[in-house]
Amino acid sequence: MASGQKIPARMTAIAISEPGGPRVLKPETRDVPLPRPGEILIRVHAAGVNRPDVQQRKGAYPPPPGASDLPGLEVSGEVVALGDEISRWRIGDRVCALTPGGGYAEYVKVHTGSVLPLPAGFTHTEAAAVPENYFTVWHNVFERGGLKKGETLLVHGGSSGIGTTAIQLASAFGAHVITTAGSREKCDACVKLGADRAINYREEDFVTAVKQATDGKGANVILDMVGGDYVQRNYEAAAVEGRIVQIAVQAGAVATADFSKIMVKRLTHTGSTLRPRTVEFKAAIAAALEAQVWPLLGTRKVAPVMDMIYPLTDAWRAHERMEEGEHIGKIVLDVG
Ligand SMILES: NC(=O)c1ccc[n+]([C@@H]2O[C@H](COP(=O)([O-])OP(=O)(O)OC[C@H]3O[C@@H](n4cnc5c(N)ncnc54)[C@H](OP(=O)(O)O)[C@@H]3O)[C@@H](O)[C@H]2O)c1
Repeated sequence: MASGQKIPARMTAIAISEPGGPRVLKPETRDVPLPRPGEILIRVHAAGVNRPDVQQRKGAYPPPPGASDLPGLEVSGEVVALGDEISRWRIGDRVCALTPGGGYAEYVKVHTGSVLPLPAGFTHTEAAAVPENYFTVWHNVFERGGLKKGETLLVHGGSSGIGTTAIQLASAFGAHVITTAGSREKCDACVKLGADRAINYREEDFVTAVKQATDGKGANVILDMVGGDYVQRNYEAAAVEGRIVQIAVQAGAVATADFSKIMVKRLTHTGSTLRPRTVEFKAAIAAALEAQVWPLLGTRKVAPVMDMIYPLTDAWRAHERMEEGEHIGKIVLDVG
């Protein structure tokens, strides 16, 4: 292992002391992880907070085998040590990375293929808000959903970290964007980000609104994090040959739906989870993002929407904010 500075043996991390509410997130002293071949060690400056961290804290989303038990799926920081077989990165590089866990800590080790340079002009807190959402949206909307220029994307949860990313990227690549969100303020934020139409799902039926906005045709791709009764309604809101991509089932994993819609409209209903995928799969997404999206981040044509920043040791407050559901965009931990 090569390292350019003295790395302490122990670090502060935020651990899940037991499954439960935000207060179970407690600072602990842990060993600094040692990078294996193909991995680098990052001194973390900022860590993104994501809904899956909340699920993990509650005991509903266990880390995949071999991953850290600490929460935290994305970080930004400085490379401080290199495992064997690393050619791209140097000590001192400013990077951001997707992590399979362990981001709520002063140091984290990451596979080289999940690491990207800090987008030009970005602060660490901004860069930490990028990886999880951009990897997820790139794969599910563009690769799995096959969204093309001129098509219409319907994004549920438009004001979420994922939603704000999907709106900006789809619009930057020339798609029309319709989104749903739960308040007027959230809908206004979505329109500012590039959504052509934002539907307050508490006041309007999104199926009717999508049909109206598309001259009766429906949405070509639907990114859904809701599930439950949205399954049937997505089939109704989809265009012929539409692709519905499931990335979460917050309103329920079990639903009754009229599957004849799939046949009549020739729909594809697919989905994926990012965290357990192989390092090779994540490296392929990283390469696509660097080539096609990093230039857009560098000119701020797209950028993470920053909601709140909390110190690492106040991670519980960050989770509280996420669960209150008032946030728009990303919540980030400042690790120092
Ligand atoms: N599959 C994957 O690879 C993957 C990766 C990352 C994240 N995810 C999932 O993507 C979702 C968004 O993640 P995030 O970190 O961006 O979370 P977030 O900012 O907390 O957003 C959650 C969103 O879900 C919406 N929502 C929740 N329940 C709803 C319901 N019953 N009806 C309509 N909307 C509802 C909320 O909208 P309102 O506030 O407007 O109600 C909110 O915008 C999470 O469910 C997360 O687990 C999946």
